[in-house]
Amino acid sequence: MTLEQKLKDLEQEALSAFKAAGSLQALYETKVKYLGKQGAFTGLMKEMGALKAEERPVFGKLVNLTKQTLEQAYDGAEQALRAKELEAKIQNESVDLSLPGPKRVVGTAHPIAMIGDEVVSILSHIGFSVRTGPQIESDWYNFEALNIPPDHPSRDMQDTFYIDEKTVLRTHTSPVQIRVMENEKPPIRVLAPGSVFRCDSDISHSPNFHQIEGLWIDRKVSLADLRGTIAYFIREMFGQDMKVRFRPSFFPFTEPSAEFDGSCMICRGKGCRMCKQSGWVELGGCGLVHPRVLKSAGLDPKEWQGFAFGFGLERMAILKYGVGDIRQFFDNNVHFLRQFAR
Ligand code: DAH
Repeated sequence: MTLEQKLKDLEQEALSAFKAAGSLQALYETKVKYLGKQGAFTGLMKEMGALKAEERPVFGKLVNLTKQTLEQAYDGAEQALRAKELEAKIQNESVDLSLPGPKRVVGTAHPIAMIGDEVVSILSHIGFSVRTGPQIESDWYNFEALNIPPDHPSRDMQDTFYIDEKTVLRTHTSPVQIRVMENEKPPIRVLAPGSVFRCDSDISHSPNFHQIEGLWIDRKVSLADLRGTIAYFIREMFGQDMKVRFRPSFFPFTEPSAEFDGSCMICRGKGCRMCKQSGWVELGGCGLVHPRVLKSAGLDPKEWQGFAFGFGLERMAILKYGVGDIRQFFDNNVHFLRQFAR
């Protein structure tokens, strides 16, 4: 077989091998096999020595042409394979627009915060606005200014966390009353919602819970105003069919003092387990501000008078939502908390 014939055969062989290569890797290996430094083509060149001198340039030209053809064929095959691989990639990685997107978890206000907001919103309609006070409070504001002296038995009512002898974690929101009366000129109509602390923990007591305090000071404020305010609030909060009742009670910072009850929200007053069949549930405390408290805060009891009330927000939430265990509000279990999302 002549060298020329060998070259033609090799060209055909290489061309079909390029065509047959199924992947870029296989194509590259084929290129090495035919056109590489130790490939078939180089092998053929080595045989050129056997040619006559005048045949060599003719054959050399032929070799170059063949090389060009093969390189073009290689490039063509490479492009085709690249296009095929891209196509396959697009097919495999296509986006399914009908799939549901990743879920975004949206947070919700804590149920106690929502109850607090609701109370504030209702009472803001009759002129109350919000004030806050410190959670770490002095003995003076938490007790003494509220007419609770050191040896007063009512201190036993409140199991207090002491920071030191004269500093406590506030046991109620009532100290904000004093701070507001000290800092603002009457008439005063304020609400003080916030965190309070007592050394107490069971199914219906949490060492940290929340209260809201109301204070209304003016020249002429009566028990009738207090009753009207509480009744308005309870009916707005729980429904216009709610009944409200006041029972005489005792608080050192009010005189007279009362506790207020509402019809049971669960049975609407018919009697059930929640209200121990009485049809009534206890909601909070209230009364006319004690003259000594007014004096402690720098107001003249002959000029100013008023009423105050206070209640627990967890208790409101328990009654409103029928929650059995107060501790659930503090467990931060999202499955529990999410139920109250609006
Ligand atoms: N501070 C009282 C408590 O924590 C609640 C209270 C009762 C607040 C009567 C008042 C009030 O303002 O007049 O139990």
